[in-house]
Amino acid sequence: MQEVHITIADESHFLYAEEICSVISDSAKVRGTGIAKRTPDYVQTKMKNGDAIIALSDDQFAGFCYIESWGHGEYVAHSGLIVHPDFRNRGLAKKIKEFTFNHSLKKYPTAKVFGITTGLAVMKINSELGYKPVTFSELTDDPKFWSGCKTCTNYEILTSKDHKMCLCTGMLYDPLRKKKKKEKWFNQKVLKRLKKIKQTMLANNKPLLLWKK
Ligand SMILES: CC(C)(COP(=O)(O)OP(=O)(O)OC[C@H]1O[C@@H](n2cnc3c(N)ncnc32)[C@H](O)[C@@H]1OP(=O)(O)O)[C@@H](O)C(=O)NCCC(=O)NCCS
Repeated sequence: MQEVHITIADESHFLYAEEICSVISDSAKVRGTGIAKRTPDYVQTKMKNGDAIIALSDDQFAGFCYIESWGHGEYVAHSGLIVHPDFRNRGLAKKIKEFTFNHSLKKYPTAKVFGITTGLAVMKINSELGYKPVTFSELTDDPKFWSGCKTCTNYEILTSKDHKMCLCTGMLYDPLRKKKKKEKWFNQKVLKRLKKIKQTMLANNKPLLLWKK
């Protein structure tokens, strides 16, 4: 098995920006899901600012993720998680996310960490890191964050629900909330079922309350 190194990206990684964007967009097409569009310029800015994490095997691109700051630093999100198809199913996404999470807590120690995703793998990884599922009202109201959804194929659903819900599930980690024992609430079967119900109900335009605060 090839060895993979995970590191904080910088200018020396600019050459991977194009490939990162095309793997993200090709994977979204294969999954048939919506996704916020990223440009190589944007990815390079993240690298330059020390807000991107890259995984390489020798000089071959293996994976990527980046940090975004919202609501004047009150929130951060870890976005654009991607593992090259040649490196999937061997725990790399988990390692990249964990690396990003630790880097982000050092760089933005008081910021709440959140993500929105339709991906079960990401929900699983996030919950292992201590994120909790939340309604969109708990996430940033920074319009710049939500405008990232405009390039997603599900954007019409988000606007038709007044930005209160969509096919993505919101997840939040609050570093200032005292951590009790590591809670093992995650149940893959339940999450899969909830995702299915949510998709069916949103498609049929019915109201839905998934989690009560
Ligand atoms: C999703 C993705 C990042 C997973 O990468 P990976 O390196 O294969 O994931 P890992 O091997 O670290 O798996 C982490 C966990 O998720 C599970 N998992 C991985 N892919 C999965 C999938 N497609 N569906 C459900 N669970 C999955 C694994 O079984 C593992 O769980 P475990 O710890 O109980 O064994 C990768 O498939 C990818 O880049 N997909 C396209 C882009 C994408 O979907 N990004 C997320 C945007 S929200």
